[in-house]
Amino acid sequence: MKVQKLQPVKGTKDILLDESELFLHVVNIAREAAKIYGYHEAYLPIFEFTEVFKRTLGETSDVVNKEMYTFEDKGGRSLTLRPEFTAGIVRSLISNNLWDKFPLKLFSAGPVFRYENPQKGRYRQFNQINLENIGTRSPMIDAEMVALAKEILDRLELPNITLELNSLGDIDSRKKYSTALVNYLTKYKKDLSEDSQTRLIKNPLRILDSKNISDQKILEEAPALKNYLTKDSLKFFEELLVHLDALGIKYFINDKIVRGLDYYTDTVFEFVTKELGTQGAVIAGGRYDGLFKIMGGIDTPAVGFAGGIERLMALYKGKVETRKPVTLLVLDRKFTMNGLELAQKLRKENIQTVIDESKDVGKSLKKALGNNSKFIIFLGEDEVSQGKVKLKNLDTREEKLMSESQLIGELK
Ligand code: HAM
Repeated sequence: MKVQKLQPVKGTKDILLDESELFLHVVNIAREAAKIYGYHEAYLPIFEFTEVFKRTLGETSDVVNKEMYTFEDKGGRSLTLRPEFTAGIVRSLISNNLWDKFPLKLFSAGPVFRYENPQKGRYRQFNQINLENIGTRSPMIDAEMVALAKEILDRLELPNITLELNSLGDIDSRKKYSTALVNYLTKYKKDLSEDSQTRLIKNPLRILDSKNISDQKILEEAPALKNYLTKDSLKFFEELLVHLDALGIKYFINDKIVRGLDYYTDTVFEFVTKELGTQGAVIAGGRYDGLFKIMGGIDTPAVGFAGGIERLMALYKGKVETRKPVTLLVLDRKFTMNGLELAQKLRKENIQTVIDESKDVGKSLKKALGNNSKFIIFLGEDEVSQGKVKLKNLDTREEKLMSESQLIGELK
């Protein structure tokens, strides 16, 4: 009977070999940038009580309605694999009573889960870098947040990415706007797409980012969100723009950005590209001043963003420095102990060493090159009898017989 080859689950992606080097490169770049902006790292559970996400991301949002991986554990509790980081982070700050630690800046990276329709750049398990600045309401902080996102993209040297910005105002302005939008759209209800007709009842603001042509035509004359912003929200947004101008950060105001999660207030932003087909957002986020209160905590302002690591990897054009270890080739079984000891000495000196045992030098050379080794050390009868090793530079093909201490000096 033929055994069927095991397949990965739809929407998941194995990240191996060169791709995993690139993955780490992206995370490390983000981590370094976060560090120079004063961020601490946070490692939080991958699953939470379902409630943590249900109310916070919006009962009518796609993420909560259709995309959560929810299951019951053996104790009958409803748990959900995190579809994003923000709600879990807020939960952890509330659970740990970290009020006196604010303002607090947190960096995380790891997998998130959404039951979406997989396509290019869209997975069911994907990875995010996530950054949150908690405890301050100020346009300066929002500008800094945007600047940090841009810093990460610049350090990765990703081309053709534009920044789109909008303000959703506070909860009151959004409620008022929502009523005005529903009144307007109800007149055209039968001409709206099926999706938008449902959203008209469940989540009218989401209609604004409908890609349907007929919806877009109707939206041209729709009331504008900016006319419903409170004085405070308008001033906040204007100050943010002044700060971004001062930093020389180019942006495009897109009043159709509403974001797929419900917790946002005031600033929302997306760094978008046309290079990934329909999955244009690379980094996205915004302010969420109401979330702590909704989750039963002390009212605390906050702003943050997340970037899709797989999308950042797909856009990356540079070369990733792959490791260049030294291969230590033991040519005779008799000398395996000498080989192991020498390998340990080299590693103590922080020289990356892989050990191989073979009589077939040609095959071992090939393997060493495949490993990206820059050097190969031969350890056989000739070398051991003279108390030396032979070092071959695989770039120049040069070979030299030397003592162990010379070897360490040479490799360092
Ligand atoms: P989000 O816009 O849902 O925001 O996701 C952030 C980023 O994750 C997107 O811009 C995209 O790069 C990536 N992403 C989203 N869905 C997928 C997918 N199915 N496959 C691959 N990549 C994907 C949030 O998650 C918010 N928590 C961001 C935030 C933090 N807001 C405030 N703080």
